[in-house]
Amino acid sequence: MIREGERKMNYNITTIPGDGIGPEIVREACKVMDKVGVVFGHHFQYTEVLMGGCSIDAYGVPLTEETLETARKSDSVLLGAVGGNVGNSRWYDVAPNLRPEAGLLAIRKGLNLFANIRPAYLYKELAEACPLKKEIIGDGFDMVIMRELTGGLYFGERHTEEVDGVMTAVDTLTYNENEIRRIAVKAFDIAMKRRKSVISVDKANVLDSSRLWRKVVEEVAKDYPEVTLTHMLVDNCAMQLVMNPGQFDVILTENMFGDILSDEASMITGSIGMLSSASMNESKFGLYEPSHGSAPDIAGKDIANPIATILSAAMMLRYSFDLDAEANAIEAAVQQVLTEGYRTGDIYSEGCEKVGCSRMGDLIAERITK
Ligand code: IPM
Ligand code: MG
Repeated sequence: MIREGERKMNYNITTIPGDGIGPEIVREACKVMDKVGVVFGHHFQYTEVLMGGCSIDAYGVPLTEETLETARKSDSVLLGAVGGNVGNSRWYDVAPNLRPEAGLLAIRKGLNLFANIRPAYLYKELAEACPLKKEIIGDGFDMVIMRELTGGLYFGERHTEEVDGVMTAVDTLTYNENEIRRIAVKAFDIAMKRRKSVISVDKANVLDSSRLWRKVVEEVAKDYPEVTLTHMLVDNCAMQLVMNPGQFDVILTENMFGDILSDEASMITGSIGMLSSASMNESKFGLYEPSHGSAPDIAGKDIANPIATILSAAMMLRYSFDLDAEANAIEAAVQQVLTEGYRTGDIYSEGCEKVGCSRMGDLIAERITK
């Protein structure tokens, strides 16, 4: 029975398990969402499609038009990971635009997912797994990296050619003001819901694209008088992340800087296996995936950490479906499991109980309550 004011809805989710540990971790995230569905009265309907290496094996390309279309028509997308060992000649002895990772870049571009949100939060329980000294960790940290995802070097014109007998490779880094403005607006919007600080990261002492970045970000900042804007050079930011991570609230940055800094930020949370992410377009549509890769070396062994994917599902409920209570329930269940001392191998420390991927999913699902 649906009571007054209560929502009971169907959501169509495209799942892309992908390669390596992808299928295992997506399975656990769906398990947790299904429990959310039972407890809160929603129905999550999944349509599974191939992308990455498995799509190359099946169709000869890392992303087909049909897969893109299925994703586009759904309410949101949940992705595991794509790619394999570069030694896998079947997937890597081909043109760069036919490799597994090209599928990921193509779906981001194809769905216009320009805003990549990567939260990096240190759970107190995982302080032992954090490689930083206690005095640097202090009271911990809680930041969000807002990475521009469909522009810059990763999408610029590139080629390799011989110039006067010398092999020469060219990559181009382009940003226009509109691309900068729309990601800056997202960053300031998120900052308004947090501690109201944006640190915009660039290389304005060298790059023209960074100087335009700075100018446009300053214009956007005028619409958000409550938010403090600071500029930081990317090399300094890399240093500050391991020197004083507590100073960051929202980091706003371009595609490649965000790629690099988000791996660094994930490592100081204890394990890259904890970091979720959302990639969104102008509306509420998003693709949700862990920040980590496909870890082919541990695939199929039931030892991967599914938490980043489960937390990505929580982001989906919050950002795409406005289901805040449900998202909170997932985050609380993750917190509870950690407090109770359950750990996958990557976050294990002495005195804890080591569990596998599927048991971790069970434990979190069991703790979902209203
Ligand atoms: C990431 C990954 C991808 C990226 C790769 C696999 C293309 O490193 O999501 O951070 O660089 O965006
Ligand atoms: Mg990366």
